[in-house]
Amino acid sequence: MAAAVVDESRHVSGRARGGGQIADVRIEGVTKEFGPVTAVDQMTLEIASGEFYSLLGPSGCGKTTTLRMIAGFEQPTAGEIFLAGSPVAGVPPYKRNVNTVFQHYALFPHMDVAQNVGYGLRQRGSPKAEEARRVGEALDLVRLSGYGTRRTWELSGGQQQRVALARALVNHPTVLLLDEPLGALDLKLRKEMQLELKALQREVGITFVYVTHDQEEALTMSDVIVVMNHGRIQQLGGPTELYERPVNLFVSNFIGVSNPMPGRVMEIGPDHSAVVETDRGLRLRGTITDPAVRPGIGTSVTVATRPERLTVLPGEAREPAAPGEVDVPGRIHQGTYLGDQTEYRVTTDLAGELIVRRQNAAGVGTGEGVGPGDPVVVRWHEEANLILVG
Ligand SMILES: Nc1ncnc2c1ncn2[C@@H]1O[C@H](COP(=O)(O)OP(=O)(O)O)[C@@H](O)[C@H]1O
Ligand SMILES: [Mg+2]
Repeated sequence: MAAAVVDESRHVSGRARGGGQIADVRIEGVTKEFGPVTAVDQMTLEIASGEFYSLLGPSGCGKTTTLRMIAGFEQPTAGEIFLAGSPVAGVPPYKRNVNTVFQHYALFPHMDVAQNVGYGLRQRGSPKAEEARRVGEALDLVRLSGYGTRRTWELSGGQQQRVALARALVNHPTVLLLDEPLGALDLKLRKEMQLELKALQREVGITFVYVTHDQEEALTMSDVIVVMNHGRIQQLGGPTELYERPVNLFVSNFIGVSNPMPGRVMEIGPDHSAVVETDRGLRLRGTITDPAVRPGIGTSVTVATRPERLTVLPGEAREPAAPGEVDVPGRIHQGTYLGDQTEYRVTTDLAGELIVRRQNAAGVGTGEGVGPGDPVVVRWHEEANLILVG
């Protein structure tokens, strides 16, 4: 199907494309096979200097393998990786100006905090005075000044993770690679560390490539998110772009929640708009989100809407819909109070089950006073219709 053609050159963020500066990391048509498994499949990606990148995708989609190839622990089966513009095939990890923080960071139990942090510098034969100065700076950065003589096993999980971070930052790498570094921490601590890591990245200005399977984490921290599935880049963009304009069904389901309605293209309009007839018989006008695809009449697509773009109106007697609005009658199946929001699940004939989210603000909102079993109308503006091809 011609509609699924993907333009690989768009996997370059605005700054990398515009500035004429050399990317910190360039991955050029890289494939990595482990026997019959293709872990990374023809990946092309440029990582611009000083930005926070996340590789986001489900378990097994090739995130760690990508990171290990950048670090030099794995060699690509095909394609090439460039660091600061130079090809690095055959360059061993310790000669690359990148460092890695793993989820299961191994601190040396027989060394104190400062000795752990200075380990890499000693390996490189740095003078004692320089080691002490750099270790001090690195511990400052991760807010552990004064902890130098502590034993690592006396520290909390969060503090140990910061020691691992300081150890990776101590020799000023150009790029820091982080592989699910907060995975072992509990939720509250993880949230704190997310904000700290983001602040730290801003402060040191080092390029971060952060691997996570947690979409919320990626949205919180990243300048650029690279969404991966089955070893392939699905979409690259800022958090808002990915949420507002997911280019396919995978991205729209992986980032946030959406209401998918399968159908076929009936008309193609201007500015990448189209009219879709859904399998259940709704005619919906919307925007084709992927600028790189041009579906023909009859192409199978999915129309997706975000739950917060939908409203629930009680009963049947009500104002008629304004031009461009869509009304779908249904019945409340479930209402869940979520603190800041209320989520309604509405059973409809025309659109299947629709998830609607209402912000709980004093005295306003839709769906006031409706509960399970009540007849309602779900209304939204066609601007909310995202047409996803593939
Ligand atoms: N050393 C290896 N030997 C064989 N298969 C591997 C190896 N490393 C990774 N894989 C496979 O490659 C795929 C991608 O793995 P990985 O990069 O670890 O994914 P992720 O980090 O996104 O969870 C998986 O199917 C995994 O089983
Ligand atoms: Mg992994």
